Order: sequence, then C-alpha cells, then structure tokens
Amino acid sequence: MTLVNESKIIIALDYKDEVSTMALVEQLEPSLCKLKVGKELFVRCGPSLVKKLISKGFDVFLDLKFHDIPNTVAAACQAAADMGVWMVNVHASGGRKMMQFAREAIDQCEHQPLLIGVTILTSLSRNDIAEVGLDIEPAQQVLRLANLANDSGLDGVVCSPQEVKTLKQQIGKDFCLVTPGVRPAGTAIGDQQRVMTPSEALSQGSDYLVIGRPITADANPVRALKSIIAECL
Ligand code: C5P
Repeated sequence: MTLVNESKIIIALDYKDEVSTMALVEQLEPSLCKLKVGKELFVRCGPSLVKKLISKGFDVFLDLKFHDIPNTVAAACQAAADMGVWMVNVHASGGRKMMQFAREAIDQCEHQPLLIGVTILTSLSRNDIAEVGLDIEPAQQVLRLANLANDSGLDGVVCSPQEVKTLKQQIGKDFCLVTPGVRPAGTAIGDQQRVMTPSEALSQGSDYLVIGRPITADANPVRALKSIIAECL
C-alpha cells in the first residue's frame, strides 16, 4: 500500500473567506497534505491568499478548470505558473489545440506546475452526460479525454477513482491521476456519484486524492485528516 507521508492527500479548501481558510491551514503542515484552492475561494480571496499558502510551504493546486479559446487558456496558465502553484488544470473537453497551447505556455515559464486535464466531473452520472449530448458511458468518455490530454502533452488528468486502473493500464503509470470522489467509509457522499474510500483509491493507483467535505465539514478537521492518513498506511 502507498504511504501518504509524501502528501498524497489534497485538501479542497472550499471555504468562503480567508479567516476560515487560515483557521484550518494554521493547524496543518505541508508534510501532511497539499492544498487545493478552487473557484469560490479564489474569486473571494484571489492570488494573495494563494501566495500566502505557498509561502507557508504548501504545494497548492489551483483548481480553476480553465476552458476557453487556446490563447486565453494559455495566458491564464502562465499567470497561474507565475503565482508559484504546484498544479493547475484545464478542461480536456476544451480540445487538443487548447491543451497544446496551455502546455507550450507553461513550458516557457520559470516555475512549471503540473498541468492536469479535467475529464468528466465525478458529480456527473450516465444520465447527466446524456442530457448534454454525450450518449456514452462516462468511463469511455474519460478514457477518450485522458488519451487526448496525454497526446496534447498534459501531465495527467482528474478522474474518478473507479477509472484509475484502466487509465494506468492504457496510458501508463507515469500519467498522473488526481481523484476527487473520495469518501472515507461511513461519510456522506453529498453530490458526488462515483466514489471510493481513500485506501481503495490509492490501491487502484491514484497518485493524489482530493478530499474536501469529509475533512473540512468535520467538527475536528485535523483529526479527520489524520484518521484518513492512518487508514491509508
Ligand atoms: O467535498 P468534496 O470532497 O466532494 O470536494 C471535492 C472537490 O474536488 C471539490 O473542490 C470539487 O470542486 C473538486 N472536484 C470534483 N470533481 C472533479 C474535479 C474536482 O469534485 N471531477
């Protein structure tokens, strides 16, 4: 079983403001976890908070899921790299050219974050994707987008833990797989659909686990994190 002391857990900091974010972060150490700043926190607190987290030694995943014309996405990725983040992501459904532009933009930066593609959101079911015109099994579409992301030079993709084994087999073990949709046994699944426990996800081959509410909504988030780490050892 993979050890978690190399910070394979990425905590999703889905907080409304800097005060509540820092109340948790001040109790954490970079050796325990990495941190993810998503849309809500970034729109509220911006690059200054991201830089503050980095200055405390944390690897920060800037989860803004860019999806736009190639030039715009490339410029946004460059801005993220200049901020010093460890990982940044774009929607793989933005297409080959968009992903290639993002790759080239990051390759020109002094600091080069991992560039990750978003495949199919783990909140979406077979019916949800059919409604937007994708009459295909989510796992098949994930594989298609992951192959396209790999061909376009990305470092890996975000996917459900249930897709990890196939992607590692089909694309290769060095293709980085980041998995949300992780729920410790006995916790609420919320709006996630395709879930696994942390130790199951790691044993399938996930490189990083994105975990939000099972930690942040717990009355004692640090204890929740440490018990997840213990479960994975
Ligand atoms: O609270 P929870 O553990 O469900 O948080 C999951 C985090 O992962 C959220 O911040 C969400 O934006 C993110 N995410 C996701 N599904 C993806 C990509 C990212 O749930 N496919």
